[in-house]
Amino acid sequence: MLLLDWYRRARRALPWRGETDPYRIWLSEVMLQQTTVAAVGQRYHRFLARFPDLAALAAAPWEEVAAEWAGLGYYARARHLHAAARAMVAAGGFPRDAAGLCALPGIGPYTAAAVAAIAFGEPVVPVDANVERVMARLFGIDRPLPGARRLLAALAQGFMDQPAARAAAGDFAQALFDLGAGLCTPRAPDCAPCPWHDFCIARRSGRAAELPLRQEKRPRSRLFGIHFLLRDAAGRIGVRQRPPAGLFGGMWELPGTPWRAAPWAEAEALAHAPVSAAPWQPAAGEVVHLLTHRELRLRLMVAEAPALPPGLSPLPAAAALPSLMRRLLALAEGEAGSVRSGKRRH
Ligand code: ADE
Repeated sequence: MLLLDWYRRARRALPWRGETDPYRIWLSEVMLQQTTVAAVGQRYHRFLARFPDLAALAAAPWEEVAAEWAGLGYYARARHLHAAARAMVAAGGFPRDAAGLCALPGIGPYTAAAVAAIAFGEPVVPVDANVERVMARLFGIDRPLPGARRLLAALAQGFMDQPAARAAAGDFAQALFDLGAGLCTPRAPDCAPCPWHDFCIARRSGRAAELPLRQEKRPRSRLFGIHFLLRDAAGRIGVRQRPPAGLFGGMWELPGTPWRAAPWAEAEALAHAPVSAAPWQPAAGEVVHLLTHRELRLRLMVAEAPALPPGLSPLPAAAALPSLMRRLLALAEGEAGSVRSGKRRH
């Protein structure tokens, strides 16, 4: 098989290559989940020197595992690794297939398939973004991601119908990783040395660098609101808690209008002011806060009153407010202008 022949000639010499112990393979895959091959390479043997097998890892106190993980980032992985080691020891050892692995903390379908293929030769193909890219190009798939995800996974898994690939599922998976990392790279694929050069539909039509396509993100829908900064005679700021469900559920906020798709006129917003008789003054500027699917645009009106009305509590500390509300407060301090915050645009 072309890919396997290429892999056996050109594969990267990585520290976990050639391992057969499921524990050591599992460790490599967990480390590789969010850390580069180069960074994992420097830490893999050190971790194994300290925790050489499942029993040693399971028996270690969490603090020691955390200390050994320091610098690799994404600590949840280390917590899951430790919890999974304990669960496996309690269950009498390593699960022998992808389904069993998937039930362990920190092991999703991708890692389960990678470990099952590499450690046990189970005929499954782990599909990550690299494998999706290789499949989209090889088969010339025009359907954009993420919609094409299942199709790309099925195409990858389809290779397990070929006896040569099925008999070497671990090498096949790692060959795809190496192809995606070394030749079939996102921006400038190096097609000349690719073992699938002659067959790749995207390469044949000169579109390798263009695939896979990605669905245009829907523009965020806008929500508008006006909030009210009311100070009492002692300078205390009145806040209330948002309803438990919905955006910013349960968090403290300055009282305000509902958030809706149409901008509010000031006069209209005043119906939602905590004290209608107060001399409300608009603060300059607007806070623009990006959420995953929405863009919040909030303005602020400011007034003083002798006392906070029922339904408002004095703000215990600015730190109790979500950052969105702290930015609104900053408008009152004369930081005029549009403040962008929240999620970055991709
Ligand atoms: N990325 C995830 N798993 C890998 C592996 N086993 N080899 C190289 N890169 C990887």
